[in-house]
Amino acid sequence: MAEVATRDHTLPASWWVSEKIYELEKRAIFSKSWILAMHTSRFTKAGDYFRIDIAGYPIILIQGKDGMIQAFHNVCRHRAYPIVSKDSGSSLVLGCKYHGWSYDTKGSLIKAPGFESVPDFDKSVNGLFKVATHTTRQGLIFVNVDSTPTITPFHEFYNGLEDELDEFDFEEFEYVESWQQDGEFNWKTLLDGYNECYHCPTAHPSFSKVIEVPTYKVEPRHNYARHSAEIVIPDADTQATVENSKPADSSWSSWLGLSSPTSKPQSTPKVDGVQGDKPGLWLSLFPLNGMNCYSYAWYYMRIVPKSAGRTVLEYDIFARKGEDPAKIREFIRFLKEVEIEDYDLCTLTQKNLKNGVYGTGQLHPEKENGVLYYQNLTKEFVIRHLEAEKVAGKQIFPAFAGLNAMNDEGKETDRICKQLECGGHGSDVLAW
Ligand code: FES
Ligand SMILES: [Fe+2]
Repeated sequence: MAEVATRDHTLPASWWVSEKIYELEKRAIFSKSWILAMHTSRFTKAGDYFRIDIAGYPIILIQGKDGMIQAFHNVCRHRAYPIVSKDSGSSLVLGCKYHGWSYDTKGSLIKAPGFESVPDFDKSVNGLFKVATHTTRQGLIFVNVDSTPTITPFHEFYNGLEDELDEFDFEEFEYVESWQQDGEFNWKTLLDGYNECYHCPTAHPSFSKVIEVPTYKVEPRHNYARHSAEIVIPDADTQATVENSKPADSSWSSWLGLSSPTSKPQSTPKVDGVQGDKPGLWLSLFPLNGMNCYSYAWYYMRIVPKSAGRTVLEYDIFARKGEDPAKIREFIRFLKEVEIEDYDLCTLTQKNLKNGVYGTGQLHPEKENGVLYYQNLTKEFVIRHLEAEKVAGKQIFPAFAGLNAMNDEGKETDRICKQLECGGHGSDVLAW
């Protein structure tokens, strides 16, 4: 039988199904990557907080009195009970409902009832576990749960991203709504479809009418990729209005793009505009975000892996200030329609990925280069981490913030558990 070239093939289906691979991805990728968590415009005052989930790590984002937004693990330092139980709220003091320890917006422990009389109790070493954040000048808040000294700096991880984001004027937009979909599929099943438009003519009939599908391209950058396509320019007499347009109508196209710099007065530096005739700012951020900025609205997607076979998709949607609410609503409905089409593709694909028939498939070198790019990143992250674990002779959990806070006795007894539970270091999972 002829050898099949593997260079342009997908990773094997087992990577979409195996819980062991998922646990490895959690250590190797999700615990070491910068992940877009939220936009600052969702916070209005000190104490405002949101709870989000990064692949099983529950995180609190909270605005301090200085206006800065910080992130902490939603884990009490006393006996690990969750600090907040709601998805959002506002409080300058975060009180644990188990034994009443409380923390301020900087994560510092301010009260531990009864511990005043405990002689060697040190409040300063019992603050909440901090999660690294980087807030871009456009107000995008990224988090990274890597608690080790080798955490990759934001600008090294996403080299060039913050400059590219300057193309869009985020200040012109305001938060409208959040939306989520709970999917029975692997996080990569979603990214497979997200990183190509080869499927657009067959799976997205409406979307395919408002862009020139053959011009769709994905340009890999540095752990992210820029997507673009030429926008179908409507005739003047088919310009979008709520009354006369349907999503399948080409008059919607100008809403998807951004306006060319030349179509705006010199004094306006930003290039976004309602009548967009150039590609919007469409980004896929490895590993867990998508972001699409159009002339009428923009949104980001947080991909929240729950297991090898379950992924929640969370969207925060923002619309241009002052626009007709009916028009915005209709545009958002169109955006959701496209996302739901992808969701349905993922659900049925995942079923077949796990039924034990399919192995790998050949990717088109141009039309599916984005898929190849992110799958290669996945493989690289995993191999690099696995090699480090082999050298260390044990599994490495970069998000294990509590490790540094454990005393020698704790570390020793933890080792007993690791030997029982984990056996080796996962090398039985993969043989390279
Ligand atoms: S677990 Fe939070 S106060 Fe005890
Ligand atoms: Fe799609």
